[in-house]
Amino acid sequence: MLRSIIISPDVELAERLEAALTLTGEVSVNRVLDRYPPAIDLVRTLRAHAPDVLFLNFESLDKAQEIVSFVEKQSDGLQIIAIHRTCDSQILRETMRLGVREFLAHPFERALLKDSIDHVKALLERKPPTHDATTQVFSFLPSKAGVGTSTLALNISAAMARRPNTRVLLSDFDLNSGMMRFLLNLRNEYSVIDAVEHSLRIDENLWPQLVTTMDQLDVLHAGRVNPNLRVEGTQIRNLVEFMRRNYDVLCFDLSGNLEKYSMELMQESKRILLVVTPEIPSLHLAREKLHFLRGYDLESRVMVVMNRCIKKPLFSKAQVEELLGVPVVQTFPNDYPGINKAMTAGKWCEPDTEIGGMCTEFAKSLDREEERCERVEEIPRVPQHSQPGAGADQIALCGADFSLQRRLQPASGHRLKPMLQAEARATWISAVYTRSLWIRIICARCWNRCARAQSMWRRRWSGCGTYRTRI
Ligand SMILES: Nc1ncnc2c1ncn2[C@@H]1O[C@H](COP(=O)(O)OP(=O)(O)OP(=O)(O)O)[C@@H](O)[C@H]1O
Ligand SMILES: [Mg+2]
Repeated sequence: MLRSIIISPDVELAERLEAALTLTGEVSVNRVLDRYPPAIDLVRTLRAHAPDVLFLNFESLDKAQEIVSFVEKQSDGLQIIAIHRTCDSQILRETMRLGVREFLAHPFERALLKDSIDHVKALLERKPPTHDATTQVFSFLPSKAGVGTSTLALNISAAMARRPNTRVLLSDFDLNSGMMRFLLNLRNEYSVIDAVEHSLRIDENLWPQLVTTMDQLDVLHAGRVNPNLRVEGTQIRNLVEFMRRNYDVLCFDLSGNLEKYSMELMQESKRILLVVTPEIPSLHLAREKLHFLRGYDLESRVMVVMNRCIKKPLFSKAQVEELLGVPVVQTFPNDYPGINKAMTAGKWCEPDTEIGGMCTEFAKSLDREEERCERVEEIPRVPQHSQPGAGADQIALCGADFSLQRRLQPASGHRLKPMLQAEARATWISAVYTRSLWIRIICARCWNRCARAQSMWRRRWSGCGTYRTRI
């Protein structure tokens, strides 16, 4: 089903078009704008709905022209269909001049509508629209309850949000003992639970009601204790997709219980910040968690941060690294008065405090890591690949190899071709052949399903991490 938005100051025309589109069963209308929106509102709408098609009323040529050129810059690949009350030859010429090749006039005859949709579908197959989505996604995972994960999640998120033009969202996914509401003295009645429950219908109007904005930081608290809450994977994926399009950085504060939704969130994350303290119970459980995450291919994303370090700790940084087998990327001091002061004020630690300053530095180091990742251009080629069905249970295919695509295309009917072409330079496709075929995109740099690979994947495939089809 194609996702669409309609921009039409002529409300009646929009209603008729919507009714006609509904009858086709091929296009969902996600938003109807009854005026030509200013750029900022249009960006919000595009980010919120990630449409494939825009139906644009050409009753005002100037306004429509502005929107066409804006959309071309903002959402490459988004298909525009011009609409109008009448089939006026001058309007038709103008739409052609602007590069809008599809034109529909009232009364939106079914056959003509179908023709246009088929044509647009073919274009989308070749070039799906790209909607910017951030890869800066971080999960904060405690090794053990009470090690200071929420405290660090808050202070690091706040440090990230202090950078200019950086919209940060901190979501408290510790759904049974979430502290963010208390730490920041939030009054908003809505919570993560509402966001999850409305994940399929979230839009630019509902979202601001769910979050609380503090400077450049948006916070979504965990709501009231609800042990019976069921959260589905698709709900999480839809929600995170929306978040990715609307923020520069996402931070998830998790409980240490490794619930299914926490695993989903970690799969979505570029980095998992595992918080430990230099004490035996915390380190023991950190090892257990690392072992568990290894089983899910997530270990390579883990960064260990050590909190509440005192002058003479039981274990030094080097000893902790040896014990866990992974580097400790940052240590944070034990500063109970400082943290308590901030907590009493319902705020985070300011940058001139010790913890606040360290969080600022740490946020910068995360930034530098992102730059390094962006700069990787040299991609090694996989030297050999086996043929599907030849008994190999694991094959690696270079993204440029289209034999896989040819085999899949008829069976799946999905848009594999553009995805392979688009990502050919940046990723490898690895496929495991069993009775059905699994494909996943892995990063050419770390050979893993890191957040970089995942975000590429998700941009193409709404809602699923692994694509599976029968061959
Ligand atoms: N660096 C620190 N120095 C001193 N006290 C700290 C530090 N970090 C956290 N704390 C304190 O430790 C307590 C637990 O912190 P926090 O709630 O952030 O931990 P958590 O790992 O999120 O716990 P939970 O598993 O319950 O979610 C709080 O009282 C907090 O003020
Ligand atoms: Mg916590």
